Formats: sequence, C-alpha cells, structure tokens
Amino acid sequence: MDQKVLHPISSILEGEIIVPGDKSISHRAIIFGALAHGVTKITHFLDGEDCMRTIHAFQAMGVPIEKNKNNVIIKGAGMDALQEPLVPIDLGNSGTTARLLLGVLAGLPFHVTLFGDESLTKRPMDRVAIPLKRMGAKLDGREAGKYLPLAVRGGALQSITFEPVVKSAQVKSAILLAGLLATGTTKVIEKTTTRNHTENMLQAFGGKISVDGTKITVEGNQKLTGTDIQVPGDISSAAFFLVAAAIVPGSHVTIRDVGLNDTRTGIITVLEQMGVEIEVIEERHIGGETIGSITVRASSIKGIEIGGDIIPRMIDEIPIVALLATQANGKTIIRDAEELRFKETDRIATVVNTLKALGASICATDDGMIIEGNTQLTGATVDSHGDHRIGMMIAIASLITKEKVTLTNPSCINISYPTFFEDISKILN
Ligand code: S3P
Repeated sequence: MDQKVLHPISSILEGEIIVPGDKSISHRAIIFGALAHGVTKITHFLDGEDCMRTIHAFQAMGVPIEKNKNNVIIKGAGMDALQEPLVPIDLGNSGTTARLLLGVLAGLPFHVTLFGDESLTKRPMDRVAIPLKRMGAKLDGREAGKYLPLAVRGGALQSITFEPVVKSAQVKSAILLAGLLATGTTKVIEKTTTRNHTENMLQAFGGKISVDGTKITVEGNQKLTGTDIQVPGDISSAAFFLVAAAIVPGSHVTIRDVGLNDTRTGIITVLEQMGVEIEVIEERHIGGETIGSITVRASSIKGIEIGGDIIPRMIDEIPIVALLATQANGKTIIRDAEELRFKETDRIATVVNTLKALGASICATDDGMIIEGNTQLTGATVDSHGDHRIGMMIAIASLITKEKVTLTNPSCINISYPTFFEDISKILN
C-alpha cells in the first residue's frame, strides 16, 4: 500500500523556503490566457495535479499551451478560437477546474461532458449549475445536474444579477466568467467578500470589471489581451510551515514571496490572535496581487474563537489551524465553517477523526469544531482520505508526536504541493 512512515523530530525547523505557486491564481492564469488574444507567459506556475487538469481541459479545446516545469506559455487566439472538445474532460480531484470551467463552457456553443474522481463526483455542482441555467446554459447530470458527470450545452447566454447563498469564490468566479461570454451586464452580489483573484486577473488581462464592496459587475463580450503573470507562493501551502514553525520548539522559519492578498490572509490574523510570533516583511505589489515574505518563530500559543467573515479568508487553512489548536493553552472554537463539509473530503469529519486518532481532544459541531489545547499527540496509522490538505496536516503533526506516524495514501499531496516533503527536509536542522 502507498504509505509514508514519519518520525517525530528532535531538531528545530530553521531556514527559508519558497512554496509553490498559488493554486487559485495558477488555474485562473490558464483560463484567462486561453480566453485572451496573444501570448501569456506564466512563471512560478503550480505544477500540481489540479492545475494540470485545467491545462488539459483547454488543450482539449485546441488552445496551444506549453509547460516546462513551472513556466507556461499560452498562445491564445481569443474565445472564438476555442473548439468543441472531442472527448469527455477528466477533472480528476479539482473542484476549482470543475466550477470555473463550467462558467466558461456555459458561454461556448459546445456540447461537453465533464467527469471527475470519486471525491469530486460527490461535491455539489448545483451551486454553479443553477445560476448558469438561469443565464441560458443547458446542464444535466446526476440529480438534475447537482453532481458530476455533467453534460453542458452552452452558448447564447444572457446576463443575470446573482446573489450566491454560499460564500464561495468558485461560484462567484464561474458566474463572472460566464458573464464575460454573455450579452449584457452580469452582477454578482456576495454576502461576504471571498478570494478575488478572478477580479484582479481579469484586469491584468485588460478586462473591465467594477467592484463596489461586495457587488461585482462585469460586461459581456470583452476582448482580453495576453499578459505575463508571476504567480505568488500559495499562502495555503505556506500555512503548513507557519504552523510547523510555531509548534516545533526553537524554530525560526521564513517563507519568501507568498501571496498576501487580503482575501486570503485570514490565517495570518488568526495566528497573531493565537499568540504566534509572526511578521510580514518585504511587502510589494505584482500584477494586481500583494506578495511578501513571512517569518515565524516557535511561540506560546493560546486558544481562541474563530468565526464569521474571516472563515472564507482562511477556509483551506482550517485543518492546519486545528492542529495548531491542539498545542494551545485553552480551548479553540471554530464556527461558521460548514463549507468545510463540501471540500475534497468532509473536512470537519476528517480533521476531527484524524486528530482524535493522533491523541487530540477534539469534537465536531455542525459548522466547525471544538479543540482542547495542551495535548501530547501520539503515533498512529492515519489516512489522508485522498485529501491533500489532510495529508499535509498529518505530516506536520508527525513532527511533534511521541511516536512515529504512518501516513497512508500520501500521494494526494501532489494535488497542490508536489515538493512538500523536500521542502520540509530543507528546514530540518
Ligand atoms: C478556490 C476557492 C475555495 C477554496 C479552493 C480554491 C478558488 O473554494 O477552498 O481550494 O480557487 O476559487 P470555495 O470558493 O468554493 O470555498
């Protein structure tokens, strides 16, 4: 069986690392590069399985995309040059590819079938299928289009005003992408601001979009122009090392060139509130995104309550924050995070069950979890359940367990962080 035996460390974590490119930004760079006219050059692209799904989807539509490690060149010829794919598109595990691609396909005069792996097949697609149908796309799949496999017949979209019920950047982005291909002005009015990389990147490609608080407006039939995109390091990947440095006594780690977009930095706020010694340095702006370096030192941590509008700003970091909370003084309560149930796994259940198996005192609630602090974690055999962020949470936990941890199914970590174990070894002293 695919497994990795992880031994607790007796050393500190020290040094600098650069984490792979941001997953959300990498997906969007491919999508906009494929829709634009002219050449798009992407550097520090995330060479992970999910982003490869997006590349393959647009290659299947005839877009010339060349990738050499972390550099990608797209020779875009505009939306009208896209071709109907001849075979069904395999989305693997990638929810972002699924939702964003549905937005694009809704506006194209093609018939396309999309399918994914077992996990993706269980994740809700009606959150984008329903508004896309309102715009005029035809979509069908299991349970009236709620789940993959989905067949899409797109084209001739009309703009809509849409107020999503779920706080999801994927949903917002799907409708904005469809809006770009629709007639008229599309508006998305969010309940809470979610990650805004689609809005930023549309502007980097010369597109027009107006953002007024939580109201986003995009005109249809815009012409986009290829550009150069430097992808910042993924703060969601950096988060694993931020927590590792905070919990391994004596550690001091710097993560260079991380994306620091406000809609993503909830993790930094939470770490500060939990008493972690963390500092952001060398902040600067590149292509509509903020980038900088983060230094963290091992710290005395305190339990806190986390909920409300900060949750969408740190949704992918909750598993690793839960691990941090097991080492805090006092209790941590995470609420308003029911969206975790719709990720690669039900992350409320997988985080709670996994940390429990490792000796934590943690219980699930409907919309989050309650974690007691000051626990000595113990060794166990635990499974990633095919969820990359659960796999990485387990690996970071193993740095401080009393006995060895056996992680089964570690290869899913390649979805967002293929060099994860190499990077850990770079800062092990
Ligand atoms: C993403 C948005 C988030 C996040 C996912 C990537 C994106 O999902 O969990 O990993 O790129 O837009 P939701 O917006 O559905 O919460």
